[in-house]
Amino acid sequence: MLNRKLQDALNKQINEEYYSSYIYLAMAAYLEDVNLDGCAHWMRMQAAEEYQHAMKIFDYLIDRGGRVELREVKAPPKDWPSPLAAFKASLEHEKYMTVNINKLADLCIEEKDHATNNLLQWYVSEQVEEEAQVEDIVKKLEMMGGDGPGLFLMDRELKSRPAPAPLTGADAGA
Ligand code: FEO
Repeated sequence: MLNRKLQDALNKQINEEYYSSYIYLAMAAYLEDVNLDGCAHWMRMQAAEEYQHAMKIFDYLIDRGGRVELREVKAPPKDWPSPLAAFKASLEHEKYMTVNINKLADLCIEEKDHATNNLLQWYVSEQVEEEAQVEDIVKKLEMMGGDGPGLFLMDRELKSRPAPAPLTGADAGA
């Protein structure tokens, strides 16, 4: 059984993951609006992945006899100054999420909850990957000047991002 402190922290993290899904959907809508459907597709896939991140904690809480408490998801921004600015905002958001995950992992250690710490280690690795992939896009866009033919090429490349594989078994935390 989870202690109350960890249950609250995990419920807060579910909300953060839903907000992540929401902000990437907002970025997708913005990128659709500026006719970058490949970039928008990438953001949609990211939103789907964030939804999975939320559900993995949702399922874990249930498995541990905890209570899921869904909270209000705040509204994300609607516009960004440029596509490059949207990807930079995405990188900043992932850095913020990494700080949250690390704090949660610290709390698991303080509370001596090894099972939740084990779950959190999955997120620790995931954050390394998430920061790296968006940083790569930002760097390439910066190299190409953030617009013109470079942006066109990046749009084409990002269109091929596959849908996230469904989380199953141990990966699903179920
Ligand atoms: Fe679930 Fe991108 O953090």
